[in-house]
Amino acid sequence: MSIAAIPRRMLSSGCLSLLFTSIVCVSACGDASRLKEAVNTEGQPPEPGYTSEQADRGRILYRQGCAECHGTTLANGPFGAPLKGAYFRDRWRSRPMAALYTVTRSTMPPENPNTLSAEETGDLLALILRENGLAPGATELPAAIEPLGRMILHW
Ligand code: HEC
Repeated sequence: MSIAAIPRRMLSSGCLSLLFTSIVCVSACGDASRLKEAVNTEGQPPEPGYTSEQADRGRILYRQGCAECHGTTLANGPFGAPLKGAYFRDRWRSRPMAALYTVTRSTMPPENPNTLSAEETGDLLALILRENGLAPGATELPAAIEPLGRMILHW
């Protein structure tokens, strides 16, 4: 091995790792700025919001396909778990809204999972938020995983 070859080899491997580092940085920096957008002024991810109209649409869907198990009040069902009250809120507190969306859409109703549309799922979740005491606002609850993943239930 010639002595001159050593620094050349070190240099080229150094260049490679520098290149690698900058690729990682480009993608990580993109994520960081997206994360920053999602965080509100107190440094907390935003709480989910919904509109009254959306919850009203959810109420109609709920009567048609959920009340038979979860009950008319969301907490007096003969079969389903309560979807309202302290137990339900404890279960979902500090978790992203996307988790509740995914469970609802991919497991409910039990005899027909994955049949609710994205919008129907959003409407049903708006009803669940209203029934658990969150005040309505001017913006609908998004009906898609990505934005819901940035919203945390603080109730
Ligand atoms: C045939 C009865 C039945 C119907 C109809 C039904 N559910 Fe359920 N649901 C259940 C049962 C039972 C559970 C508990 C499942 C478990 O814990 O594995 C549950 C669980 C859930 C949960 C999760 C609760 C938690 O804290 O983990 C949600 C949310 C939910 N249902 C929403 C709905 C919605 C919305 C509809 C209407 C589209 C619906 N369900 C229709 C029986 C039903």
